[in-house]
Amino acid sequence: SIDISTFMKQTGYTALDQGFVNTASTRSEITYIDGDRGILRYRGYAIEDVAANSTYLEVAWLLIYGELPSKSQLEEFDEKIRRHTLLHEDLRRFFDALPHSAHPMSVLSSAVSALSTYYEDSHDVRDPEQVEISTIRLLAKLPVIAAYAHKKSLGQALLYPDNSMSFVDNFLKLNFGNMAEEYQVNPVLSKALDRLLILHEDHEQNASTSTVRLVGSTEANIFASISAGINALYGPLHGGANEAVLKMLGEIQESGDGVQKFVDRVKRKEDGVRLMGFGHRVYKSFDPRARLVKESADEVLADLGISDPLLDIARELEEVALADDYFIERKLYPNVDFYTGVIYKAMGFPPRMFTVLFAIGRLPGWIANWREMNEDPKTKIGRPQQLYTGPAARDWPQR
Ligand code: ACO
Repeated sequence: SIDISTFMKQTGYTALDQGFVNTASTRSEITYIDGDRGILRYRGYAIEDVAANSTYLEVAWLLIYGELPSKSQLEEFDEKIRRHTLLHEDLRRFFDALPHSAHPMSVLSSAVSALSTYYEDSHDVRDPEQVEISTIRLLAKLPVIAAYAHKKSLGQALLYPDNSMSFVDNFLKLNFGNMAEEYQVNPVLSKALDRLLILHEDHEQNASTSTVRLVGSTEANIFASISAGINALYGPLHGGANEAVLKMLGEIQESGDGVQKFVDRVKRKEDGVRLMGFGHRVYKSFDPRARLVKESADEVLADLGISDPLLDIARELEEVALADDYFIERKLYPNVDFYTGVIYKAMGFPPRMFTVLFAIGRLPGWIANWREMNEDPKTKIGRPQQLYTGPAARDWPQR
């Protein structure tokens, strides 16, 4: 037997699959999705079990190394990551060169790209030790860079990481602490954030992960590959949807027109407006992550004693859309990002940080995919074909 691409090549055909709707770019052992049945599994474990029983770092280990860690493996991993959180002092000053108004996603991708200038040894992608230390550096430093992007946008001082704290608590402190007073972690927020990060950790060959693999297939180092993945995540049709959802909810609130009028505009495709946080290339039934995020939204807002009218608008939107033929026929359901923005807002993050939080969540999946690609002897440089539709050969004009 031969694979379809070899067959096509031998018979002189080229498949055109715009947007890669039905083209597998790789084999992978990491994540399984059944989009028709709303199933998501990390290394065989159901997302519901993973989210209920694990932590971000434990899941990162599972995704990257393939099995759940033993207690001592997890402690050692956690300890190593704590020891690598500090950024080089010069890199702290890198933030000074960027404008306050910079979008934190641009800051994040630039700073991750800059990391490879500090770790020249990461260019040796065939050296397992270098891959291992780069993995630890990325997991340790991305949250710090993310928090600095946030502080920078507020014009506040950048704090040093506190390595006596857990991964998520440290991140909260870097974002919301200040030099003047002791930061008290709210355990409800810490647990909820950890859960949201877990839900974002991997999602097989989405646009950003495919980008990481494509860049990595050229043997570019892991920092360069992941910086490219962050840029792919930035767009509103991918990770940027969480920021776009909150903007949409705010606009519906401000217009005073009500949810139905907005849904009617979406159905008329007026100005290309879409119901952000709805629809998915793979899920043609409920996104299992969306159910879990919705539960978290209810819990977090109740625990914080916040009643956010935007959450009510989101609930109403979901209800109206799920009962409407336009959405039913097209199998459009809420995706992971429909409710995350409401939770991040309740936690105190500005909308421009929402996609940055997604990036921290997705990092272990990007790393796991990059490593799987890098270790696979069958990996080839990614190089899609095209169907040329330009002019036929023509003579250069006499002028
Ligand atoms: N609102 C209104 N209509 C939609 C939506 C939406 N959110 N999503 C898809 N449709 C419609 C399209 O207009 C199209 O209708 P048509 O058949 O009349 O032309 C049909 O549903 C199919 O849509 P496609 O764009 O072909 O679906 P695709 O699989 O290419 O797109 C995507 C998936 C990009 C996620 C899309 O559903 C979308 O734009 N959603 C909103 C943005 C969003 O929430 N993105 C986050 C995705 S999850 C993630 O990355 C974490």
